[in-house]
Order: sequence, then C-alpha cells, then structure tokens
Amino acid sequence: MRHLISAGDLSRDEAVQVLDVAEQMAATQQREIKKLPTLRGRTVVNLFFEDSTRTRISFEAAAKRLSADVINFSAKGSSVSKGESLKDTALTLEAMGADAVVVRHGASGAPHRLAHSGWVRGSVLNAGDGTHEHPTQALLDAFTMRRHLVGGGDGAAAVGADLTGRRVAIVGDVLHSRVARSNVLLLHTLGAHVTLVAPPTLLPVGVGTWPCATSYDLDDVLAGGGDGPVDAVMMLRVQRERMAAAFFPSAREYSRRYGLDARRLRALGEHTIVMHPGPMNRGLEISAEAADSARSTIVEQVSNGVAVRMAALYLLLAGEDSA
Ligand code: NCD
Repeated sequence: MRHLISAGDLSRDEAVQVLDVAEQMAATQQREIKKLPTLRGRTVVNLFFEDSTRTRISFEAAAKRLSADVINFSAKGSSVSKGESLKDTALTLEAMGADAVVVRHGASGAPHRLAHSGWVRGSVLNAGDGTHEHPTQALLDAFTMRRHLVGGGDGAAAVGADLTGRRVAIVGDVLHSRVARSNVLLLHTLGAHVTLVAPPTLLPVGVGTWPCATSYDLDDVLAGGGDGPVDAVMMLRVQRERMAAAFFPSAREYSRRYGLDARRLRALGEHTIVMHPGPMNRGLEISAEAADSARSTIVEQVSNGVAVRMAALYLLLAGEDSA
C-alpha cells in the first residue's frame, strides 16, 4: 500500500497487520527511551487545513518517535480558494521532498485528490476529510477494541486476531461523522457487527448500502436483543459546527433519547466498553459518569493513536520487507 485514504482500502490481512505492528510499537513505548531509528532521514509533513488537537499531536509524536523529520504546516485561514491552495501547497511540499503527507481537510476527497493528482510523490495519509473518512481513527478504535475484547493477556491483543462476532453500537451524529464511516468499513472488514444508532435526521442518505444495521432506538440496541448487551458502544460528538439547521428539537431531548447517561451506563454488560473519539460534549452525547467510568477507554484511545500511527507510517514508508 502506498497511501492510506479510506478504511475501506484495507483488506482483512492488511488491517490485522497494522494492528499487530501497532502492538509492537506500543511495546516500544513502554521503554525508557521511546525513539526508534526506523524513519531517520525521512520527512513527514503534517498538513492541517482544519482544527485538530489529538490527531495532529498524535501524528507528530508518531513521526518523531520513529526519528522522521516533521514539518507542521497549518494551512488554516488561507485566503486562496481550496483547490488552488491545495495544489500550490502540494507543489511546495514536493519541492521540500516530503516522503509522507498527513492531511486533514474540510473538503471530503481532498486527500484522494492529493494522492492521485501527481502533485506529490510521497505517501498520503488521510487524517480526516470533511464528513467522509478518518481511517487512522478507525484503526486506533479497532486496536482498542481488540485489546479489550480479544485480549491475549498482559493488556496486549492476540497476534493475528480480528474482531469476528463482536458487536458494536455507534451512536449519534453519524451524518457529519467521518469517524463513523471509517469505523463501519473497517469493523466490517474485521468481522464485527455494527449498528448505527441515531435520530433519522442524523443518518446520511444511502446509509442503507453501508455494511451495518441501523436503528433509532438506543436502549433496544444497547440491550442487544436476544444476544445480550453489545461489546462496545462508541458515542459520536454532536458536530454543531457542521450544522446549519436544527437536526433535533433541543439538546435536552437529544440527551434523553441518544445520550449515554447514568441509567444507560448501568444497563451495559459487565464487559462492555465505552468509547468516544473526542472532543466530547460532556452532558450532551455522553455524561461525565460514562466518560470517566472504569469501562471508558477514551484516554486509552488517545495513547493507542500514537502506536497505530507509528505502525501506519512505518508500513507505508519503510515497507513490508523490513517488517
Ligand atoms: C474526530 C474528527 O476530527 O473527525 N476527532 C478526532 O479526530 N479525534 C471526531 C470529531 O471531531 O468529533
């Protein structure tokens, strides 16, 4: 693989390979000296056209832990139109000799354009494009689920394992979420069963063609029908910045129907984990009790993100032969 644009581009074996390499990377991060020489002399450019806290820092930490040179390019606020700005920026990066370009852009499809335009020769990693995809988030989520739900002991997951038969509920603002789409594609590839739960106004047109089930009833899905409670529940942020109109009557009504409150938290299974990609709207889609509970993996997801991005950069730049 040369680029990482969509979670759907990964085969089952490729996805499992990323997760396995990420376990090895995570093990190196327990050492006193965390830095590996793997990407010495390589240049990774972080190109962020949209706000980000954890993803940008996470990619930066991952590249630095692999000894790559990192250039941070925050292109937000540029007055040039998006297409031109992307092309001009790409040509500049090319002139600087970028081996990998990590791109976050408000326009869905921008990373694809960058990868296939011939403007840059390096690998392109999608760090979130519009409401489309966020493949490394899906990988770190799968990594986190695998550790908790298919553990191989000592906190690490069993090598080579996928998520066959695990049941995952993804809840909330699916319409504006690139995290949801990437997760549905990757989890399906890994053998998990996903149910999207949202009010009808927050489900995208065409969701019926996605490889997952959908529901409007959170309590019903969390209970898991006859199969017992779900294994993981992932709450999505209500993305107010992408909402021009009203998608639900009030915040209170939304929380009541689609929020993970104390009552729903208590009803979860013994083993069920609570996930959120961050940033959270505490009190809206997730209560403080749920976010801070023992079953919450939210902070862990952030640290797992570094290991997973190290694995992605390593596999794209150092190639499989050195594995
Ligand atoms: C997500 C994103 O930016 O798509 N956050 C993240 O990368 N951790 C989700 C969000 O913004 O709600």
